[in-house]
Amino acid sequence: MMKYSSNPPEDLLASLPRQEGILQPYCYQYQGFWHGPVGLKELIHCQNHFLARKNDIFLVTAPKSGTTWLKAVIYALINREACHPQDPHHPLLTQTPHQLVPFLQYVEASCYDSVCNSLDDSGTRIFGSHIPTVSLPESIWMEEGAKIVYMSRDIKDTFVSLFHFANKIDSRPSPISLEKAFDLFCRGSSPSGAVWDQILGYWKESLDKPDKVLFMRYEEMQNEPLVQLRRLALFLGKPFSQEEENSGVPHQIINLCSFNTLSNLEANKKGNILRVLRNDSFFRSGVVGDWKNHLTLEMASKLDQITEEKFSGSGLSMTT
Ligand code: A3P
Repeated sequence: MMKYSSNPPEDLLASLPRQEGILQPYCYQYQGFWHGPVGLKELIHCQNHFLARKNDIFLVTAPKSGTTWLKAVIYALINREACHPQDPHHPLLTQTPHQLVPFLQYVEASCYDSVCNSLDDSGTRIFGSHIPTVSLPESIWMEEGAKIVYMSRDIKDTFVSLFHFANKIDSRPSPISLEKAFDLFCRGSSPSGAVWDQILGYWKESLDKPDKVLFMRYEEMQNEPLVQLRRLALFLGKPFSQEEENSGVPHQIINLCSFNTLSNLEANKKGNILRVLRNDSFFRSGVVGDWKNHLTLEMASKLDQITEEKFSGSGLSMTT
């Protein structure tokens, strides 16, 4: 497997397979997955420099699978003792989940140690990421105490969300059409795609290493948020006490991180992250099955067909 031992050479991109991208004009294939040029350089940088610690938590997703939501949930969950979910000064009320839980790739190597998003003295770091299993920095797999939470989402809804997001990028010279984006998506050319392969990688790891990787689903979080939150808390070694249950803490976390709450906060309505991404572009409808309002039946059945073929024999099924 191709891996660079130091910063990638300037001609790195020229040496890799390239195809048109959905979010950026081109993306490049590295270790079997497609990445935009900036993201790829950052990925290689982090493969070379990041060292996991035993309390670290990595939230991994395919883009548009509920990253923002689960960043907020994990942050509120981990910090609930230091900051009660109903605290009027809760950091989630004034900062975006992306500020509080950074994307691993976009943290400067010199700042890894200073990332501290736990409000107590546990030293827990929480990072978000879209990196596929094969490209995740090795120390994350090696460090036993480091945990990975993977959130998946129905492929059709993921695609529709990505398509809308693509057209909200400030630097985009002209809009991308649904048909064009669909074609590229089916060919795997989505960020950290093909999305099916990225999901499958974490699905298999979750079966293999259930204490290391938790596999979650956006739809289950929507349908039974309390059940999923308790599952997540247990996995992260922070189960709710009876006292917390009695006083409604799980419910309060779900409310604090709901689409309604987060999307109506000034912090999430204004401002940008990574310069070209507006904070409000991470909140659209938050509805399961919204693909029905955007895809033709032909498109939907093509995505279902690819999904069935890709996941065949894995025990994973994902169609809504
Ligand atoms: P839609 O475009 O379908 O509405 P990501 O955070 O990975 O970029 O994913 C964005 C998707 O998650 C968007 O989906 C967005 O609306 C939805 N989302 C954001 N916050 C949410 C929340 N608190 N609850 C449910 N869905 C949320």
